[in-house]
Amino acid sequence: MEMNISNASPVTLKTGVLAVGAFADGLLTPTTQAVDAAAGGKLAAALKRGDLDEKAGSTLMLPDLPGVAAERVLLVSLGKRADLGDKSFREAVSGAARALAGGVARSAAVALVDLDLPNRAAAWRVQQAARLLADGAYKFDAPRQNKPAERGAGAIALLVAEATPELETALKQGQAIAEGMALTKDLGNHGGNVCTPGYMAQTAQAMGKEFGFEVEVLEREDMEKLGMGSALSVGRASHSPCKFIVMKYNGGGSAKPVVLVGKGMTFDTGGVSLKPSAGLDEMKYDMCGGGTVLGVFRTVARLGLPINLVGAVMAVENMPGGNASRPGDVVRSMSGITIEILNTDAEGRLVLCDALTYVERFEPACVIDIATLTGACVIALGAHASGLFANDEALAAELLAAGMATGDRAWQMPVWDDYIGQLKSNFADMSNLGGPPAGSITAALFLSKFATKYKWAHLDIAGTSSVSGDAKGATGRPVPLLAEFLLARAGA
Ligand code: BES
Ligand code: MN
Ligand code: ZN
Repeated sequence: MEMNISNASPVTLKTGVLAVGAFADGLLTPTTQAVDAAAGGKLAAALKRGDLDEKAGSTLMLPDLPGVAAERVLLVSLGKRADLGDKSFREAVSGAARALAGGVARSAAVALVDLDLPNRAAAWRVQQAARLLADGAYKFDAPRQNKPAERGAGAIALLVAEATPELETALKQGQAIAEGMALTKDLGNHGGNVCTPGYMAQTAQAMGKEFGFEVEVLEREDMEKLGMGSALSVGRASHSPCKFIVMKYNGGGSAKPVVLVGKGMTFDTGGVSLKPSAGLDEMKYDMCGGGTVLGVFRTVARLGLPINLVGAVMAVENMPGGNASRPGDVVRSMSGITIEILNTDAEGRLVLCDALTYVERFEPACVIDIATLTGACVIALGAHASGLFANDEALAAELLAAGMATGDRAWQMPVWDDYIGQLKSNFADMSNLGGPPAGSITAALFLSKFATKYKWAHLDIAGTSSVSGDAKGATGRPVPLLAEFLLARAGA
């Protein structure tokens, strides 16, 4: 998708669709007022008749308005004036994005970033709008035999009062975040037969070549030498060999790196503790933590951010089989901690713990792991917030703020040692199963025992990284949250 910012006049600009905003009570934004005046009051009249639903993001397409150069005007509801805020702004832009992505017009201009939002500068509005418009045009057609005909606006201009360098930068950031999200979504949406550990490794390697950052792929023998007995136990029965993907982006000189660790379970059958088959296809999304790490690397490399970033993705497939781990097996992690596997379906923590030990060597500024770790997190927070856990309150606050700024929100839960009794094993240092109460917390607590040498946070994205139902698909979250966190750290 091509995008630019422009101070062109909305009335005389020749384009396929001009999107303008209106409040539920009939109040028009200044731009919309100008367009309405040129069109002889036709917008105000349509609103008065009630043709536009009041809900923020509802749209009404009006073709061939007299006095307006655009072929069509898309009226976008901003919701009630009194409710105007981040949420209604995002809903309005997303509504416009849907209409533009599904329509026949190949070009569009969007005049929604001129809205006066409480506490949000123009750069924020442009960055958000660019990301939402580009992400709204995402389609996953790779596996289809007959590719649908190209539809939707392939070129969008964001109309602003003045096109400053600051706004150009914000536009590029929004586009780069959407580009990262698209990679994360593609990896998630591919079936486990395509998106294997090897496929994830190849994708990382190709990206490293494209942007010129270092990618190292550790094979099973390398992992054996490192003593990663816990991670290796998970992938034993799969015919697709494990890959431990380590990426190093160096844009920040000698600064200590931020390290992102991703769970890349390319399919999670549960192993011998087999999952029931209803909805099991969605366990192809169990690599979305790793997919997020790749997506964030794409965003950061595209922008050339002045930071140092390390990504470590444990790409593994959890299969049953004659060679699989059994409940009761005891494995030895790279840290030396021994683990009794009481349930082979609690495999995410078994792969992450070794990755967390491995990344100590980078002397990280901080480590953030991202994982579709627990169904319990879906019960606790649903699809709206990722679970956040941390051993450092300042780091947690930074991540929460990045979530608020992007609408890709997280909510903090405790990692108190009070829960440690639930991970007690009669046969090893710890078990991998905490039982039903506080399942997300005991999973995080397990990880925290391997993240002792640095500032650490854990994002449980089981509920946020994909959606079920008619719109089934990967969401690209939490790429926006992490990109915003890194942009803030880069001072960009
Ligand atoms: N990948 C799942 C968690 C998950 C569940 C992600 C639903 C997305 C949607 C994870 O490996 C898992 O199976 N966790 C178990 C842990 C339990 C056995 C302690 C779970 O949540 O049931
Ligand atoms: Mn599992
Ligand atoms: Zn899993």
